[in-house]
Amino acid sequence: MMPNKKTPAPSTDTVEIIKSEVKPSGLEKMRVTGGNRLNGSIRISGAKNAALKHMCASLLTDEPLHLENMPTGLQDVRTLAELLSHLGVTIALRQDSVATLHAGTIQSHVAPYDLVRKMRASVIVLGPLLARHGKAEVSLPGGCALGARPVDLHLKGFQSMGATIELDGGYIKATAPKGGLMGAEIVFPFVSVGATENLMMAATLANGATVLKNAAREPEIVDQGEALIKMGAKITGLGTPEIRIEGVKKLHGATHCVVPDRIETGTYMCAVGLCGGELRLQNTRTDFLSSLIAPLKEAGMDIRQEGDDVIVKRNGGKLKGVDIMTEAYPGFATDLQAQFMTMLTLCDGAGMISETIFENRFMHVPELCRMGANISIKGNSAIIRGVEKLKGAEVMATDLRASVAMVLAGLVAEGDTIINRIYHLDRGYENIVEKLTAVGAKIERVR
Ligand code: UD1
Repeated sequence: MMPNKKTPAPSTDTVEIIKSEVKPSGLEKMRVTGGNRLNGSIRISGAKNAALKHMCASLLTDEPLHLENMPTGLQDVRTLAELLSHLGVTIALRQDSVATLHAGTIQSHVAPYDLVRKMRASVIVLGPLLARHGKAEVSLPGGCALGARPVDLHLKGFQSMGATIELDGGYIKATAPKGGLMGAEIVFPFVSVGATENLMMAATLANGATVLKNAAREPEIVDQGEALIKMGAKITGLGTPEIRIEGVKKLHGATHCVVPDRIETGTYMCAVGLCGGELRLQNTRTDFLSSLIAPLKEAGMDIRQEGDDVIVKRNGGKLKGVDIMTEAYPGFATDLQAQFMTMLTLCDGAGMISETIFENRFMHVPELCRMGANISIKGNSAIIRGVEKLKGAEVMATDLRASVAMVLAGLVAEGDTIINRIYHLDRGYENIVEKLTAVGAKIERVR
């Protein structure tokens, strides 16, 4: 079945072709005035962490890839578009959440430091470039300041497929064997989202079969695999710890609709937990958030699916403290840890959070404490004892999810909260000011 090959290119009247860096607005702070309940509807965007990988997959074919439900307003999408455009991909990002990427020819196999340092996910171009072009040079990534975050699993995987890897001048220089990458059995010592995705993409064009064992099972990986299948890849076992990819000679163009963003969905759920009220989260699902919804319900919230929407409610008194531990999917997502912790700052009793995925992911804790929260950290665990109220303050955050935690805290704190360095927020939350304003929050960008 190849219904996607003939999809016409979108009309060009609203198309924005990415050529150069998006200029910052100059409004680099946010002011949040707390105290309002949240009521109304928020439309959930396509998942950032799926969208970025789909964009990289466009490198695997010389035909256009059309993506719907794309969070085209995200800074990370624009940063990656800039990098891909440098590699030779023609890109159109439309305001109506449609993107087209066409890698007719690969013009460069070098992902330079200047572009990669802004976003760690850039390392995902390595697999597709190696598979289609036979070589790739990618600067070692930057991105969120979440501890060491190595890419050794990616590199070992490529080596198992016959690639030669060299580290030189801060660059990963990878070369495929003469006849192209070879299928291999790759057993990950622990679960890695990025390594699973990078190797799955590389394996689609390899000679023979690749089996990824102890693979990540995140919904975004399933989504990526489904898009690759539409492009002609042969993949089975998506959503299980063992993914099998039978290499093919060529992939073709396709149309794919990006899965909803479960992290954005969960973030707004936590916002309701903190502020109270009722939100209709449109175009999203509960099934991929079971590990968040269970503790939210235990804490006292009401959450249910209604068609394509999710209704989230907290009308009663305080939430009860509950414990969670972050784990690979289907466990509690590390990307929701900061938001959940913020919610617990006002709980009745106490809750404990253990972070098992990333070191150095409690950077929001000192900032929350400055707003009046009572949190103590021991190793990779934090105890959050509920307090009566938070108070607005000038705060700063150094990663994406910690930044949004500051917004959530500001929504419920007494007085004004000024959030500095909102660059991180714009990387991953589409129209956050507009979305929250529409449901009653007082939030604005300021100079
Ligand atoms: C992705 C997500 C990120 C999320 C994370 C975990 C994107 C763009 N980012 O990041 O939002 O928080 O999954 O759900 O999709 N590790 C190694 N060696 C490697 C690779 C990873 O030691 O080669 C370690 C990491 O340092 C980390 C753990 O493995 O401690 C999990 O990382 P991984 O699942 O790879 O996360 P990312 O793909 O970087």
